[in-house]
Amino acid sequence: MSETTRTPLLEVRDVKKTFVVRPMLGRSKEVHALKDISFTIEAGKALALVGESGSGKSTCGRAIARMFSIDDGRILFKGKDVAAARNPAERRSNARHIQMVFQDPFASLNPTHTIRHHLLRPLRLHKRVEAGQSEDEALRQVLADVELDVDNTLDKYPHQLSGGQRQRVNLARALAVGAELIIADEPTSMLDVSIRRSVLQLMKRLKEERGIAFLYITHDLATARYLAEDTAAMFAGRIVEFGPSEEVVRDPLHPYTRLLLSSVSDPHVKINPSIEDAKAFSDYADGVRAQTEMSDAPIETIRPGRQVRPVAV
Ligand SMILES: Nc1ncnc2c1ncn2[C@@H]1O[C@H](COP(=O)(O)OP(=O)(O)OP(=O)(O)O)[C@@H](O)[C@H]1O
Ligand SMILES: [Mg+2]
Repeated sequence: MSETTRTPLLEVRDVKKTFVVRPMLGRSKEVHALKDISFTIEAGKALALVGESGSGKSTCGRAIARMFSIDDGRILFKGKDVAAARNPAERRSNARHIQMVFQDPFASLNPTHTIRHHLLRPLRLHKRVEAGQSEDEALRQVLADVELDVDNTLDKYPHQLSGGQRQRVNLARALAVGAELIIADEPTSMLDVSIRRSVLQLMKRLKEERGIAFLYITHDLATARYLAEDTAAMFAGRIVEFGPSEEVVRDPLHPYTRLLLSSVSDPHVKINPSIEDAKAFSDYADGVRAQTEMSDAPIETIRPGRQVRPVAV
């Protein structure tokens, strides 16, 4: 038997990114948005990135999608450094295989174009209409993949659809381009609660049935557990805890992960039910953040697939 060394679909290794913010007045300031981020995602699997506002989740997603260059570290897609893609063809191929879906379902849709236009363009551009298949059949296929009714969707404009339908169109477009990894940055947070679940179910199906990998960015640990095999909790540019989603939610090891869990509404994962008083909770939360911030210690592997950063004492 030949030796098989499996290359993960995506490998993020020791990635750092600092923004320099220059205010109108006063001195410029450095924001260490990613201090040292490492993880892998296998094909057909999802990793949830959870954390409070400003922890660096979107920066991490945007770095992988090459929306800016990183300062240090490496991002490997199928074993190849995305930054090292020298020729335009290789860059296009990476760009095609890694797609982003944003929080605002309107953000990447042009209001003056129909859904047909939005989907036909990438299908043509990337030659995704198969031999023997008409363009109409390819369009129908990609809409069926995201469970949209073709006759009621194709000739509509983005504003004529619901938020959930628009997000399905965004997913369809990622598929039309040929995405293998979708970076979904809070894809359901602007949708009505009633339709959030159906969009999540769709992403789960795309993962399981089509082998699409997801980096799922969210504030919501309950949905992280629903969609993603693994969850990474981020604070101030660092991953503080990583593990199978089920375990991270059931048995969080880092106080910051416990804090995240204590602020979710799901009663089954309420870790600190005793802290009912708002002032006491706010003091507790500040204490945890300060304790988490102080630790520079590298993340420790407790066992394969389970990591936690030691806290400062
Ligand atoms: N282009 C930029 N220029 C300067 N600072 C930036 C830029 N993008 C992000 N930051 C800063 O980097 C830090 C991480 O931001 P990021 O948007 O990644 O957080 P987030 O975890 O996605 O937060 P949220 O949950 O609110 O979306 C923040 O302090 C933010 O202000
Ligand atoms: Mg964000």
